[in-house]
Amino acid sequence: MNSELQTFLEDLQKAFESNTLVKATLGKTRGKTQELKNIYIRPVELKEGVRLSFTYRYATNDQVKNYDLAGALEEIQKYLGQSLMRMHLFTIEYDAEITINKKGKGHRRESDASFKKAVIESHDHQKKQFVSVNSDFLKELEITNEQSQIRKGRSDKFKQINKFVEIVDGLIKQTEMDEIRIADMGSGKGYLTFALYDYLKNNLKKNVEVDGIELRPDLIEKCNAIAKKMNFEQLSFKEGSIQNTELKDINVLIALHACDTATDDAIYKGIEAGAELIICSPCCHKQIRKAIQVDSDEQPMLKYGIHLERQAEMITDTIRALILELNGYESKVFEFINSEHTGKNLMITAVKSSRMVDSDKLVSQIEGLKNQYGIKEHYLETLIKS
Ligand SMILES: C[S@@+](CC[C@H](N)C(=O)[O-])C[C@H]1O[C@@H](n2cnc3c(N)ncnc32)[C@H](O)[C@@H]1O
Repeated sequence: MNSELQTFLEDLQKAFESNTLVKATLGKTRGKTQELKNIYIRPVELKEGVRLSFTYRYATNDQVKNYDLAGALEEIQKYLGQSLMRMHLFTIEYDAEITINKKGKGHRRESDASFKKAVIESHDHQKKQFVSVNSDFLKELEITNEQSQIRKGRSDKFKQINKFVEIVDGLIKQTEMDEIRIADMGSGKGYLTFALYDYLKNNLKKNVEVDGIELRPDLIEKCNAIAKKMNFEQLSFKEGSIQNTELKDINVLIALHACDTATDDAIYKGIEAGAELIICSPCCHKQIRKAIQVDSDEQPMLKYGIHLERQAEMITDTIRALILELNGYESKVFEFINSEHTGKNLMITAVKSSRMVDSDKLVSQIEGLKNQYGIKEHYLETLIKS
């Protein structure tokens, strides 16, 4: 390597090591037919430390690779003076440029610094954790062990809890609720109930009251004992059915993985109570699956069980979302956690809105869907009409 080039690379090394490097570029292709047009280099912070990110700009696409300093210097030498004949170095102390001529000799020029700051971008964006692994309630729920490590086989649940709290956090911020009163219908083992209560009460310092409603007395007893142990005074679990629970004064209704029409019962209770937010993650869609009446010769797609099942899910949840809109909510239907973590990953959220709705249009959309599949009635409609 010629001495000018060596000095230039040493300058790059010093700038990198003293965190004064802003960026570097390699360009000026030798010959016109080069696929690689230029390389853009900048420092980035990765989990393993600060690295140099190279963006290789080809005629039709870009490719990005990260190198440690030694790897980066090696990589530059593959190109500089070979296929790319010029390199620019931008530091916060000076700018420099080296041009390699046909004989391989380098010519260096220096000028005042164009940049005053060297910002190292972080590429390992730490995802905000809404639920800390150190939370004591996670130990009680057997998601973490005594050392606050996630137990084997529980990391999907932990991810699900975090995602759920993140979603509710976003929704609550859309509303102007001072006091949050939540009913969690079919609270089960209370994973999400505890996490949400803890986040709202202890992180956001909200005035919050949460009731878990659950059929199984053993779960009620267990959850109430944990709530007591954690001093979660405004969290309680009550034995009862979704259908027969009288909801007074709630503004958030949650129903996660309540089977089949229990989700409809919960949505109905939420609408009836005038909840500001209704959040549910449906589970099994038997009612509509049974109600679909189509001639499989006319609709051959539905001849196959798996398609029928998926279609039933989509119809059930579309009609739920439309009925919520008809009742003054803005609905969303989305995957709330990647399907690799759980199959039960669809979420319907509904936020009460003062926006005018086109009821005729919504009714005709619901009727249209039902007619298309020969469905006489969606269970949520039955409840609303009752
Ligand atoms: C699949 S678990 C989900 C638990 C919790 N919501 C979660 O997502 O982790 C469903 C729970 O709902 C309860 N459940 C089912 N039907 C119910 C009903 N009609 N009323 C109250 N609870 C019900 C079950 O006992 C069970 O604990």
